[in-house]
Amino acid sequence: MSTMLVTSRSFTEYSAFFDLPTPLPASILDCSAGGSGFTAVAASHGVDAVALDPAYAMAPAELGSHVRKSNTGGTQMVADNADAFVWGWYGSRSRRDELRAEAAEVFVEDLASHPERYVAGSLPVLPFADGRFELALCSHLLFTWANQFPESWHLSSLRELARVAREVRVFPLVHQADAAPIPFLAPLLSALEAEGVASEIRRVPYEFQRGADEMLVLSGQASQS
Ligand SMILES: C[S@@+](CC[C@H](N)C(=O)[O-])C[C@H]1O[C@@H](n2cnc3c(N)ncnc32)[C@H](O)[C@@H]1O
Repeated sequence: MSTMLVTSRSFTEYSAFFDLPTPLPASILDCSAGGSGFTAVAASHGVDAVALDPAYAMAPAELGSHVRKSNTGGTQMVADNADAFVWGWYGSRSRRDELRAEAAEVFVEDLASHPERYVAGSLPVLPFADGRFELALCSHLLFTWANQFPESWHLSSLRELARVAREVRVFPLVHQADAAPIPFLAPLLSALEAEGVASEIRRVPYEFQRGADEMLVLSGQASQS
């Protein structure tokens, strides 16, 4: 079984995964943010940006070294399986590696200078008030790790994201290992719909895992049961 890395995708990659508007929404949660540079760069654009990840319970020095090691591990995995990916968006392997390495350093620096932006926590329970954020993003956790987290966990997690943010965007919608589609995606969206959470699957200007060029967009809060 693959081990989940604390990866560091960049602001530039997030902008494409989630087809983000300009200007950005005023408040954004990056949920399962890992070592991503998104929060630091969004905050530098004036966004009230918060990142959440269970890994933030680690001491900053340990976390920094874990993020850098994850980066090396991820880069090696991609190098070993280069033919499994679509390279058009990045253009080259070195461009991808550069973006990840830069993002890791941006993250480590921002964690040291703005620790208040980095909240330790885990889905499916988020330590935020209802409607705290205009937008919540979730990159490479939900669906990506559907072999580790069951359908019921996904439903609770999406409901919780929809509780804390007016809009939720999730990318990608395929399994990590083989880019296979998620068999329980349709029933999950029907269950959310029945609770008052509207969903849309939208094409995005990014593809790396073959066929993974769509995000899930949720809007509306689940009704209390
Ligand atoms: C593959 S990394 C993605 C990190 C970042 N979003 C990115 O795209 O580079 C998955 C992240 O999910 C975090 N994670 C694992 N379980 C979680 C949970 N229950 N709730 C929130 N985050 C979780 C891990 O610590 C890890 O940092």
